[in-house]
Amino acid sequence: MYLEIDYYVLLQKFLVVFVCFALLWKIIRYLLNLLNMEKDPVIVLVTGAAGQIGYALAPMIARGVMLGPDQPVILHMLDIEPSKEALEGVKMELIDAAFPLLKGVVATTDVVEACTGADIAVMVGGFRRKEGMERKNVMSKNVSIYKAQASALEEHAAANCKVLVVANPANTNALVLKEFAPSIPEKNITCLTRLDHNRALGQISEKLGVQVNDVKNVIIWGNHSSTQYPDVSHATVTTNSGEMSVSKLISNDQWLKTQFITTVQQRGAAIIKVRKLSSALSAASAACDHIRDWVLGTPQGTWTSMGVCSDGSYGIPAGLIYSFPVTCAKGEWSIVPGLKIDEFSRTKMDATANELMEEKSLAYSCLEE
Ligand SMILES: NC(=O)c1ccc[n+]([C@@H]2O[C@H](COP(=O)([O-])OP(=O)(O)OC[C@H]3O[C@@H](n4cnc5c(N)ncnc54)[C@H](O)[C@@H]3O)[C@@H](O)[C@H]2O)c1
Repeated sequence: MYLEIDYYVLLQKFLVVFVCFALLWKIIRYLLNLLNMEKDPVIVLVTGAAGQIGYALAPMIARGVMLGPDQPVILHMLDIEPSKEALEGVKMELIDAAFPLLKGVVATTDVVEACTGADIAVMVGGFRRKEGMERKNVMSKNVSIYKAQASALEEHAAANCKVLVVANPANTNALVLKEFAPSIPEKNITCLTRLDHNRALGQISEKLGVQVNDVKNVIIWGNHSSTQYPDVSHATVTTNSGEMSVSKLISNDQWLKTQFITTVQQRGAAIIKVRKLSSALSAASAACDHIRDWVLGTPQGTWTSMGVCSDGSYGIPAGLIYSFPVTCAKGEWSIVPGLKIDEFSRTKMDATANELMEEKSLAYSCLEE
């Protein structure tokens, strides 16, 4: 039988298939391009950038330790007039390091220039206690620094700027910043207790001889001071037989309730004693951990510790900047709810809250002068 071929229809079908393939190819190439496309740079402000922590922190940010290896950054570094030259030196070294992710560096003593457009603000600059100085004098100097910088951030930073206060007294500096920058959402103002959290993880890993990344869910409650309460009641270690409680594995309640707590509380002083300088590398690394988890999220089933504005959870007075266990997702932190608190923990949590209340009154009395 003779088969009649309609060449016209065949050609039409061929053309339709060809166009479909061409379109599909274009879509695939577009999607691949999207994946490879460089993200817009994020502006990260670091105050006190000429100091010890600043010097360790700036290269970490420029290398992607804080925001990830695919996130370009522009660094805004602020310091005060006496540190202007040293700050310029940090900028020169950042240029010399040729960090591919670093798209710009501003080194300035002008707080407005530094705050302009900041998406993330890491507040390391502050007044340090000098020998013989009264606590109130130190508080007074920091309160006025944080009051002024709050206004600059409020007026010139990006609308959703995330703020991390590192400078001591960290919780109370953050509280002052929150009070004087009312248009910044209070959820965006935090302080650093991640260093204490990491110190607690380190102590448990050393004691048990396990890898530090196998230990999780320790908690730092309260103030970044020697009244903080490092709590392992809910902490676990990943072992070959599954997740096991730290308290059970250590099986030495006395050590956990005494030596462990004081070691973490006084680790800063212990570092100063041997290094003759305060912690800088570990503080910078903790600041990166804090922001990275906040922006990119905490791993599933894991929480971290952050100084955040209390909503009254766990009976802590609302409005205080207090360190809680938090999880982070989609750029937001949430306090871990419903943890069981025994009497020992309750006493410790209240003691550190009381210290924060006292610091708050001291800060307010400085503001009234
Ligand atoms: N929260 C924590 O876990 C933690 C840990 C370690 C240190 N800290 C605190 O971090 C702060 C910085 O520590 P460091 O070792 O880098 O101190 P540092 O003295 O080496 O540096 C502080 C820098 O801040 C600058 N500075 C002072 N006033 C400023 C202002 N108004 N604006 C901008 N910059 C200003 C100084 O010139 C200096 O360069 C201290 O307050 C320290 O106690 C906190």
